[in-house]
Amino acid sequence: MKILSIETSCDETAISILEATGDLPNPIFKVLGNSLLSQTEIHKEFGGVFPNLARREHGRNLVPLLIETFKKASLLPDSSVNISDELRKDLEEIFIKEPELSALFFEHVARLDKPDIDRIVVTEGPGLEPALWVGITFAEALGRLWNIKIIPANHMEGHIFSVLLDAKDPLEFPVLALLVSGGHTELVLVSDFKTFKILGKTRDDAVGEAFDKVARILDLGYPGGPKISALADLHRQTNKESTIKFPRPMIHSKDLDFSFSGLKTAVLYKTKEIGILNENIKMEIAREFEDAALDVLIFKTKKAIEDQNIKTLVVGGGVSANRELRKRLTSLVETYPYLKVLIPEINLSTDNAIMIAIAGFIRIASGRAPKDNLSKLKAEGNLTYNK
Ligand code: KG4
Ligand code: ZN
Repeated sequence: MKILSIETSCDETAISILEATGDLPNPIFKVLGNSLLSQTEIHKEFGGVFPNLARREHGRNLVPLLIETFKKASLLPDSSVNISDELRKDLEEIFIKEPELSALFFEHVARLDKPDIDRIVVTEGPGLEPALWVGITFAEALGRLWNIKIIPANHMEGHIFSVLLDAKDPLEFPVLALLVSGGHTELVLVSDFKTFKILGKTRDDAVGEAFDKVARILDLGYPGGPKISALADLHRQTNKESTIKFPRPMIHSKDLDFSFSGLKTAVLYKTKEIGILNENIKMEIAREFEDAALDVLIFKTKKAIEDQNIKTLVVGGGVSANRELRKRLTSLVETYPYLKVLIPEINLSTDNAIMIAIAGFIRIASGRAPKDNLSKLKAEGNLTYNK
């Protein structure tokens, strides 16, 4: 089965074509084409992702990315079709709220023959609704143009199952997923390919958001995660202990929830107390902040592993690019020798379309795909699991 997937839930526009063979629990995936445009530079000046700007950029990016992905996969169809008036009217109706995308579509896509694609998978949520709608509209138009069935995908299931791209063995359940990004911090129990339970999540800021906010306090720029983690690593290399101490919020709470907003405030107060921040002090603050955040993530992850007899730990989301977090998670096998720790390589753990194709395939293979194309898709900013 060849899957065309579309991801526009946040500030990355991404399209991939994935070939899936075999079946659960051990499907084989081959990436035929994969493209991504990040809007980080555009959102930089706002210090975070600005939903309507993201929407506009997705509208501009999707058509060129689609053509590029078809070319990479050697699947670009001939351009010889004259669409009927009825089809044109239907397409115009689909695009009613996206004029810029519509213009690009009619110019570059509407004349393409039907490509060798079996399903279109698109992220329906969670994410920023204005951004999600662009991808959904595009998917609907492509589905109508070529009469290809559309499968909605849950972005978080994409993060969970992206590890299957390179998996050699079937996933051993129960799986625990630690999902850490700019929008999410959660521990999810995955009992099989269709049963999910959130064991704990953040009650306020996501951990990536805390990294970004602390980076702003230290005047390091956006996105802050990589900058904080580079400074923290520099401090670790000095082999000195940090003299600054921050709290480990909720580390001893009985549940598996997190809270990072107070930690960010502790950093803010400390910087005010210090006054002028030289590079050494910034390094030390970054180190202690990172240690505080990671201590809590690791502590609660261990608690979940023990409580639920977890066999496999998967990690996803932008914060899993963090070197120290990877190191600490990988070494959990020293404490739990039976545990498999699966962390996708960085391009697969940040937002991408390959993981959306995989999530879509799993929906189909586990009997969760919609039976028909009649029900209209809808962006669901707060989409939950098991829908
Ligand atoms: O998953 P992602 O690409 O986008 C969403 O938030 O959905 O994650 C981006 C987040 C940002 O908050 C960024 O600061 C954080 O991941 N991040 C990191 C690192 N690299 C990216 N946080 C800590 N350490 C890093 N090395
Ligand atoms: Zn994500």
